[in-house]
Amino acid sequence: MIQFNETTKTFKLDTKNTTYVIAICDEEQFLGHAYYGAKISDADVAYLLRTEEAPFVPSKNNRDRSSFFDTFPTEYPGNQVGDYRESAIAVRDAKNHEAVQFVYCGHRITDEKPALKGLPATFAPKGEVMTLELDVADPVLGLEATLFYSVFEKEDVITRSITVKNASGETIYLTKIMSLSLDMDQEDYQMLTLHGSWARERQMDFRNIGYGKQSVGSTRGESSHQDHPFVALVSEKATQESGSVYGFHFVYSGNFLAQVEKSQFDSLRVQMGIHPDNFCYQLRPGDSFVAPEVVMTYSANGLGQMSRNLHDLYREHLIRSPYRTKERPVLINNWEATYFNFDTEKLLSIAREAKKAGIEMLVMDDGWFGYRNDDNTSLGDWTVNENKIQGGIKYLVDEVNKIGLKFGIWFEPEMISPDSNLYREHPDWAIAIEGRTACRSRNQYALDLSRREVVDYVYESIANILRSANIEYVKWDMNRQLTDLGSTYLGKENQGELCHRYVLAVYELQERLLAEFPNLLLENCSGGGARFDPGMLYYSPQIWCSDDTDAIERLSIQEGTSLIYPLSTMGAHVSDCPNHTVGRVTPFATRGNVALAGTFGYELDITKIPEEDRAQIPEQIERYHKYNPLVRGGDYYRIASYRENHMYDCYEVVAKDKSEALITFVQVLNRPNYHSRRIHLYGLDPKKQYRIEGEDKLYYGDTLMNAGILIQNMWGDFQSKLIHIIEGGN
Ligand code: DGJ
Repeated sequence: MIQFNETTKTFKLDTKNTTYVIAICDEEQFLGHAYYGAKISDADVAYLLRTEEAPFVPSKNNRDRSSFFDTFPTEYPGNQVGDYRESAIAVRDAKNHEAVQFVYCGHRITDEKPALKGLPATFAPKGEVMTLELDVADPVLGLEATLFYSVFEKEDVITRSITVKNASGETIYLTKIMSLSLDMDQEDYQMLTLHGSWARERQMDFRNIGYGKQSVGSTRGESSHQDHPFVALVSEKATQESGSVYGFHFVYSGNFLAQVEKSQFDSLRVQMGIHPDNFCYQLRPGDSFVAPEVVMTYSANGLGQMSRNLHDLYREHLIRSPYRTKERPVLINNWEATYFNFDTEKLLSIAREAKKAGIEMLVMDDGWFGYRNDDNTSLGDWTVNENKIQGGIKYLVDEVNKIGLKFGIWFEPEMISPDSNLYREHPDWAIAIEGRTACRSRNQYALDLSRREVVDYVYESIANILRSANIEYVKWDMNRQLTDLGSTYLGKENQGELCHRYVLAVYELQERLLAEFPNLLLENCSGGGARFDPGMLYYSPQIWCSDDTDAIERLSIQEGTSLIYPLSTMGAHVSDCPNHTVGRVTPFATRGNVALAGTFGYELDITKIPEEDRAQIPEQIERYHKYNPLVRGGDYYRIASYRENHMYDCYEVVAKDKSEALITFVQVLNRPNYHSRRIHLYGLDPKKQYRIEGEDKLYYGDTLMNAGILIQNMWGDFQSKLIHIIEGGN
């Protein structure tokens, strides 16, 4: 619900459990941010702007105008006009000035969610969402903007974005544009971010908020392994299921900044948007810029409720794929099985064995094209290597289909190897700065996707392969980050647009692909999970979570990922042991149980693994089919975290109708002479009776939640257990 009160000049945005209040303030029509948090009844909370306290609003005290701006909780702070905290927007105008300040001009309240041109964004049918469009302007610059706020009532989410338009007669350069700026008082909040690296993505990291600015960000051209476009403010007292948590998540796949600043008056300014480093966008008269969307949610019930709000939002209002609510085929990917060393016969032998075990799709990974036998060559040459794939793609796919499996394929469309025919023909298609030795990474360059002909070449290369055979799945990889930001195509005044244009082109390519192949199952990937972000979810219902497939390492990677993403999106496979990344040996059953929390599949040479492992695959697949509807669509609860207790990990998924739940328990540290562990379940109906599958006894939900159950110590390393709770005596 969104209401405007003419008398108090306040906008009140309500979701089921939260309220957000904006107030128009003073004669100059500044927009102030009055409140965001648990639901309140009064709209008139403009007193929270403290405009009746010294230094007072400019109309009452213009001699201290700067002090006013430096303390005022601003809805969208300008630059160089008295507020010394971080600005949300900055420009360079025709006179080389950088000042901007927006004031309120008008507004609209609608019952729909406008799309963001060229960008992924949440959506909802008309009537299921409300949007406030606040028009603001800087009359000195002739810059106009609209701030968008969409209210997803049921999910307790408000999304924000901004579009700016150069309504002046001269060119303006946009040098910074945050999609979110939110001022609030510091109470007892800590900052939670997701940090990482290759093979250990999205590790939860809490820190105290000190005076000044603290941030995470990426200037790597993608959302990155290293930091994640997410930040939460978490009350020190908050637990999984109680206490205040504000979550902010950026629907974008490129450079980002997520920053919290604590001011001299102990207020906080939270900001999120495209990273201003290396960013400068030319706006000629009449040009507009659309900034990507930020998702905000507030939970008074701890981190768990934040997770569930985001999971529901993404499942219902961000993922578009027809696979969104469908069970994904159980796939086997040949990467860890063969790396580059495979041919048609090897793939068919894997397919035959896979079919016997109940696997449903074979994915051919890197190494099938050009003359690629290692990672040094051929990116950009998207023609099949018939020395390896004897008989060609169509023959291979037909044979795999005859065996009874679907077929999927790997691409890395954005890249070019220096040793490729494409590079020899078009060296200027790589991102590079003339005269400077461009950094190679994995011996490759990134393509200059700001160039139309490059985008078209890339599209046709992929589409031609897909048109040539019955290919039902694509893994879209990206194995290097951007450096040497130069484009021989863009003019000198447009070089600062390269990173954003690159991301827009990736979006355009995936959009085109899905338009031509609407039933394609697309899985995004970037050297593991470096582009696991909400932007990519708009195109692919699943994303490869990490190249680390070790069941124990996966616990914290999947904990950090499931903190903000639905389990249905997490690419997770069972791989061989010793694990290829860490050398650990874990039971095959545990590898299966951990992968069940995600999309589920295999990444091993099924023709070579020990017979006792192979024999477990049919049961694992049966379990996947049995539990996946629950895992995909249910409510996620974190019961215990190995990250915190260093001994065991435990999480639960509860059906929306509370008729069943699945608990996964992984014992990481096995110590002698310990009591059994008590775990408390969550999210059940306290008055319903449940049975633990395999036992006869009935328990009320309140017993399972308050008194809990006991998990006995298990014999051996890295043992695990699935516990299925079913309503009633069935
Ligand atoms: C990185 C991916 O994460 C892997 O799964 C694999 O596809 C390799 N790239 C192939 O080069």
